[in-house]
Amino acid sequence: MSQALPDHGRAAADVLQQLRDYGRDDPHYQDAKLWSLVYYLDPAHADFLNQAYEAYSSANGLNPSAFKSLKRFESEIIEATARLHHGGPEACGVVTSGGTESCLLAVKTYRDLARATRRVRRPEMIVPTTAHVAWFKASEYFGVKLRLLPLDEHLHADVSKLESMINRNTVMVLGSAPEYPHGSIDPIEAMGAIALKHGVPLHVDACVGGFILPFMAMNGVALPTWDYRVPGVMSISADLHKYGFAAKGASTLTYRNLELLKHQMFVSTDWPGGVFASPALLGTRPGGAYAAAWAALQHFGVDGYRDLAARTQQAFERMRAGIEAVPQLKVLGEPQGPLLAYGSASPQVNIFAVGDQMDAKGWLVNRLQFPDGLHAMITAQHLPVVDDYLRDLRESVAAVQADPSLAGKGRAATYGMMAHLPLRGMVRNKVLELFANTYRAGGPPLSLEGQGGEAEAGKPLLERVAAWYVARRQRRSA
Ligand SMILES: Cc1ncc(COP(=O)(O)O)c(C=O)c1O
Repeated sequence: MSQALPDHGRAAADVLQQLRDYGRDDPHYQDAKLWSLVYYLDPAHADFLNQAYEAYSSANGLNPSAFKSLKRFESEIIEATARLHHGGPEACGVVTSGGTESCLLAVKTYRDLARATRRVRRPEMIVPTTAHVAWFKASEYFGVKLRLLPLDEHLHADVSKLESMINRNTVMVLGSAPEYPHGSIDPIEAMGAIALKHGVPLHVDACVGGFILPFMAMNGVALPTWDYRVPGVMSISADLHKYGFAAKGASTLTYRNLELLKHQMFVSTDWPGGVFASPALLGTRPGGAYAAAWAALQHFGVDGYRDLAARTQQAFERMRAGIEAVPQLKVLGEPQGPLLAYGSASPQVNIFAVGDQMDAKGWLVNRLQFPDGLHAMITAQHLPVVDDYLRDLRESVAAVQADPSLAGKGRAATYGMMAHLPLRGMVRNKVLELFANTYRAGGPPLSLEGQGGEAEAGKPLLERVAAWYVARRQRRSA
């Protein structure tokens, strides 16, 4: 056998050592250099979550009557979440494995609701262009056609176009609080009024904002109303494993009432394995994730989350002011926190080249497209490093301005090309082919965008897609 399954088992200490070694080249999020993916505070909190997780790591929430502890965690988490979002006495919901599961399930629920109550056979949903990609995935998975609500000149969902897009096949409308690319809260009140008028449910994707916006509001930050206080809002997704600072694998999906939630549930009465009922997408549900999420809510409480929100808000405002003070940069859209994105305000400064300079200084920043930009998911952990980040950003902008050829090098070249390639369908197929290949048993390690090796197979995926496109264009023009 290959080393992936050794012929003879190895000592636990030896295995654990190698396991840690595998993480050597992972992003070093503990020092706050990473601006996405991880919501980390400090070793003490990580240790606390680990202890809570470990206590229930074997427990299974599949059958809610078996592990009563898990059902109790879930009920209390849902109660806390529904109250935080001003749900009424009928509010209900489930804990899921993450934001994507919450989004997928909402689409399934509303597709089935419309099928059952209005006999809709060709379901459609209306989502702003800035909706998280999970909604695009849900559309594919559940056969619900996406109708994209365009953005206005401030990159806000253009609510003036919404009403004319609703038709009898519309099963749901989506708004985000806030949206992932630029951090603005969609106009939920206006969307809710239109949705209500047409009898179509409005879901709010608060996967990012669900556990920070309420505390920002308690701290006096002026925010639009986006939760169950808006009459048309019928459900909300909110991630515990983001600003709830729980362990990975925990989100919530709540509904205004049980009549809605019923359409999410799956019941089979005739399976030889017995009568089976499942509330969410997963079968086995990870007890550790529920326990750690419950523990996080108990540990922080309202005052703990308010403190985290206050520090995040401070970091966000310093970041925004610092970026706005650089004449060659502009903040994209009108972010309300806790994240923001920025692009170039100068033809001499390529924003992806600025990203390369920031990478070289040890920061890990995400790239955006349409428009090109750099992204920062800001947490309380970042407050102590914001000034260092801004200093490096100013230096990076100056370096790119002094040497515009940087735009054609490194990741800037790849990202610039990927963001502006025509023939998106062909690009999609090429990405699919290369991406799928990395899942071959014993296949090459996946490098989506990091530094690749010399061998073609070791090169970053986006670089290979770009190289494929250039070669194709050259062949055509030869
Ligand atoms: C607005 C929004 N919705 C949904 C998701 C999906 O969450 P997850 O990555 O936990 O599946 C994200 C992730 O960033 C998000 O920003």
